[in-house]
Order: sequence, then C-alpha cells, then structure tokens
Amino acid sequence: MARSATIHVCSACGHEEPRWHGRCPGCGEWNTLVEEVRERASRGSLAAVAPRKPVPLVRAHAPEAPRLATGIGELDRVLGGGVVPGSVVLIGGSPGIGKSTLMNMALGNLAVAGRRTLYVSAEESTAQVHLRAARLPGGALDVPAIAETDLEAVLATLERERPEVCVIDSVQTLDARELSGTPGSVGQVREVASRIVTIAKRERIAVLLVGHVTKDGALAGPRVLEHLVDCVLAFEGERERTYRTVRAIKNRFGSTNEVGVFEMRQDGLVEVLDASARFVGAATRAPGSVVLAAMEGTRPLLVEVQALVTPSELVPPRRVVNGFDRNRLALVLAVLTRHGGVPVGSADVFVNVVGGVRVDEPGADLAVALAVASAQRNVPLGGGEAGVPLAAFGELGLTGELRWVGHPERRIAEARKFGLETVIAPPGSDGYEVGTLREALALALPRGQQRAAQLAA
Ligand code: TYD
Ligand code: MG
Repeated sequence: MARSATIHVCSACGHEEPRWHGRCPGCGEWNTLVEEVRERASRGSLAAVAPRKPVPLVRAHAPEAPRLATGIGELDRVLGGGVVPGSVVLIGGSPGIGKSTLMNMALGNLAVAGRRTLYVSAEESTAQVHLRAARLPGGALDVPAIAETDLEAVLATLERERPEVCVIDSVQTLDARELSGTPGSVGQVREVASRIVTIAKRERIAVLLVGHVTKDGALAGPRVLEHLVDCVLAFEGERERTYRTVRAIKNRFGSTNEVGVFEMRQDGLVEVLDASARFVGAATRAPGSVVLAAMEGTRPLLVEVQALVTPSELVPPRRVVNGFDRNRLALVLAVLTRHGGVPVGSADVFVNVVGGVRVDEPGADLAVALAVASAQRNVPLGGGEAGVPLAAFGELGLTGELRWVGHPERRIAEARKFGLETVIAPPGSDGYEVGTLREALALALPRGQQRAAQLAA
C-alpha cells in the first residue's frame, strides 16, 4: 500500500471518504471530515494473532522513575513534582502569554542540572530563540536548539539526539508532510502529536508540547490532543496583566487542582510565592470588596473579589463576571435575592476576581455573595474603610445555608497569617462558623452601619 495514502474520517460518525467533503456523506454534519494517514499495515486475521497473557494488576506496577525537576517550583508543583521521564505534557495558552519563555527557563534549569535537553522551535529561528534566552536567568542559553518545521526531520533528530527532556514549540506549526492539510489543521495536529507521543514512549523522552489556544478559549488544535497526552497544562491570564497562572487540566501523574502563579518581568517569568500578601495588600476595603480565602490545590490563596451593582434599564440586566463561573453567579444572585433579602433582580451586576486569577471552586460562593450585598447596599464589609478587610469562604446551598468546603483550617490560617482577623466561614470551620447566608450578612453588614450609610446618602 502506498505509504502516503490518506483518508478523510468524520470526527462525528467515523465515516470514511477518500476525498475531503464539506459535509459528511455519512451523517450530514458540516466540517467534520479530518484527514488521517491510512492504517499502514493490513490487519491479519484473528487466527494469526497470538493471544496475550493477562497479568494480575497487583504485580503490574513498574518501579517509579525519579522525576526531572524543572527547578521552577510553581511548575514542578503543578506537574506533581517535576516531569515524568517519557511523559508528554501539553501546555496550552494564548499567543504572547509566555509559553516559550516558561519552557526555555525550564529547559535551561534542566540543562544546568546536567540533563540532556533539546528545544525544537517550529515558530522562530534559533537566533530569535537566542534573543529570548539571553534575557532569562539560569542556563537558558545552554540549551541545544533546532529550528525546524518538518515533522520527519524533528523525529529523526529526536531519535539521534535522544534528549531526556525536549520542548516542541509548537504542535500547530510542525508539518506532517504526508497529510495535505495545512499545519495547525485538526488532522495535522493530531498526526503530529501522535507521532511525537509514540517516539516519546519508545525512547523515553519527556516532551513538553506547546499548543496555541485561540482567543475564544477553545483549544482549537490542543482540544483534540487531550486524550493523547499524559498531562494538559493551561497557561492563563491576560497579556496586559502581570499575573499568569498555570493549572493542570488533566494529569496522569498528579493532582489537577494545583495552580502556579507567575508574574512576567523584564527577565522572564518570576514565581509569585507571596500571592496572598500581594492581593490582600492591594484590597480596597471599599463597598463591594471582600477577600476570598480560596484553595488553589493544596495551597491556600487569598484573593480580592469585587462587585459593582448599578440600576439597569436593560431587560434582562447585565451579569458580567471575570474569574468566576457565570452560572455560579446566577445561583449566588438567586440565593441572595430569595434568602438574603438583597434584591438584585433588576440591577446590573459586575463581579471581578482581582489580578486575573480564576477561582473555580464552590468555596467562592459566599465571598461573591458578600461582595454583591456590600455593593448593593453601598456599605463596606466588616469594620469599614479603616479596618482590615474581611475574609470569607463557603459554598451556598439553594436554601440559603452555608455548606462546608475543603481545608477550612488552612484557609483560616492563611487569613490570620495576613492579619485578617474576621473570617466568615461555614459550619465545620473551627471557631468561625456561620450557619446561613442571612447570618453571614448580619455579621458582615451590621444593621447600624447600613442605617448610617442610608442617612448619609
Ligand atoms: P513568549 O514566551 O514568546 O510567549 P508565547 O510563547 O506564549 O507566545 O513571550 C510573551 C511575552 O512576554 C512577549 O511579548 C515578551 C514578554 N517577555 C517579557 O516581558 N519578559 C521576558 O523576559 C520575556 C522573555 C518575554
Ligand atoms: Mg512562543
């Protein structure tokens, strides 16, 4: 069979066509045909295949190979303690977020630690990679690099050089010549990734695969790769903002709750180890502001949540949210209206988690509710302007009750560490419990203060 023969397979129904069609003749879906390399070897008949002997799982464990630490603490933590030899990590993020920078720094540290590394740039010339590396600390300049877009050439280089860790930047710009599609198309990206995964496993090369994410958040190419790779990291944040986070979306060798916080500086990405201190220090203490004692994986993190509530002529009114789930906000607002006596039904509500951080945990509900209530009543939470900000966490139930969330003691300890004495927390949080949203509001927004504010208005 001709080695270059390709087929077009419908990603919805699996229908196969020799040529590309805009609409799948099998199921009628549009734009679902994806070019693939045809199975090379013809399958033998069942009789020709030797059956395999199953092994009891208890005896199937392999000795754990030591991980390769990138020396970037935040990245290692998210990976679960460093890169696993022979594993493939996909790191996705929008252009300009700092993927190449982070990868270059990681390889630099590994090179300094005596590891064999290789940087494959399919986007920039080695001179351009050099320019970036020259700004970075550590051994970024010690990393051997090639600039190549041809997949076969890259695979051949990997086979000969046999690095322990290699960066491929990016999966969308490598070109699998066998496929007629342009680099970056779904078929191409999938072929590139699966060939790289194969060689990574065979030669035990840990591969950090860079992937671009389009503006609307869809991991255009990378989405289709998630099942192929061992670990998927998302590098998030706004290009204009200083803070960026790396979180694991999938991790076969660690937790998916870990988040690393970075700041982009003149000389590369700097780990932000005191994120809580910065966010608390910058908290405004104005009406609508509260500090959320969040958990980012195993680490507590204090972040400021801000809300703004303004009368609206729009039907339905606007609900704008940054860093928090939109549907979750709808739930919080409904519970606030129904059980908290804070009607926001006809007002525009804006909620923002400061610093470009995303909080994806139910423990954020209470902080959002308090921020919105404080904004709606135009009263600062807790002791007022001069006072220390108030910290809160807890999940909101649909009946207005506060519900327990994980690690209350660590959240409270973090708040106290940064001088936030008043913490409002759900039942089961030693010493700080409040049972319902109504009680939380009474505590955070004392009646007397509200009246004073109303009189002043
Ligand atoms: P880059 O790593 O090239 O982003 P990506 O590979 O995700 O597209 O760099 C992102 C931006 O960061 C770039 O616009 C320049 C800036 N930058 C710094 O501010 N400081 C630095 O030390 C470096 C290397 C880049
Ligand atoms: Mg790049």
